[in-house]
Amino acid sequence: PLMSTKPMFDLAYEGGFGVGAFNVNNMEITQGIIEACAQEKSPLILQISKGARKYANMRYLKAIIDAAVEEYPELPIAIHLDHGDTVDLVKECIGDGFTSVMIDGSHHSLEENISLTAEAVKVAHAAGVVVEAELGMLGGIEEDVVGLDAAEYEKNIEKFLTDPEDAKVFYEKTGIDSLAVAIGTSHGAYKFTHEAKLAFDRIEQIMKTCPGLPLVMHGSSSVPKEFIDLINQYGGKMPNAMGVPEDQIANAVRQYGVCKVNIDTDLRLALTAKIREVFAKDPAEFDPRKYLAPGRDAITEMVKRKLHMLNSAGKA
Ligand code: G3H
Ligand code: 13P
Ligand code: NA
Ligand code: ZN
Repeated sequence: PLMSTKPMFDLAYEGGFGVGAFNVNNMEITQGIIEACAQEKSPLILQISKGARKYANMRYLKAIIDAAVEEYPELPIAIHLDHGDTVDLVKECIGDGFTSVMIDGSHHSLEENISLTAEAVKVAHAAGVVVEAELGMLGGIEEDVVGLDAAEYEKNIEKFLTDPEDAKVFYEKTGIDSLAVAIGTSHGAYKFTHEAKLAFDRIEQIMKTCPGLPLVMHGSSSVPKEFIDLINQYGGKMPNAMGVPEDQIANAVRQYGVCKVNIDTDLRLALTAKIREVFAKDPAEFDPRKYLAPGRDAITEMVKRKLHMLNSAGKA
């Protein structure tokens, strides 16, 4: 059923697994994700960015998600706003039936982030909706936000990571339900110039200053080399793409108790690699179902791989 992320995070923390939060923009992506979670009996979060709302029109996206929930009534599913930037957007999403929202004030000063987030919490909690907020700076790109260059981010990483004492103040003053932390992950396909090392000690420190607060990791795609190779082999051009090694994500959820893991880029790569392959192998093909169906299957395979990495298979 459609539900809040709260009971999911309680189970995740207890059970040493992470709940996958996958971005959806259309029917095939949604179906691909749901199919994987149904097969693996895994709880899931479908998350929708401002860009997704604009691209698909929320009425259509909501109808697709409602259909998925009806199709798999036993599956625990949350609908979450990814990177909300205003209280008005939070209100719209509550009206649209979201069970969770993110208000991302991480690019503001601590004081401004606190006041924006506290306002969002007031509005959301009054409607029984939980709130994720963010503190610290991730590398990479986000829509409408100028991101940091990978090399520049790596060089200055310490000053971008979430400060555990700030997190304590932030948590106490806002009453948030979960916190997205900067611990060395990054958005997009070009995260790093050399192998990433997550700051596991930071996770431990934040857990100490914010006991009981579920932590969220954004920018958790691994950008698997075999998919980049396929894309490049079939006419794409993605040099120097690099992500977070999957064993480090697995460690963050199993050993350090991270509850929610955001993955979008790897699903995009799976879909794009497959569609490129179909086009390269059969240039005469023009029935969209002939490339979207294999693309959807590729998303299902990618999500199944992630559910095992997160140890969430069998936890629904
Ligand atoms: O963190 C951002 C997500 O990957 C969503 O991306 O804003 O392009 O929809 P988007
Ligand atoms: P990736 O770009 O690593 O998939 O991160 C997605 C994300 O954080 C969505 O909020
Ligand atoms: Na989010
Ligand atoms: Zn994100």
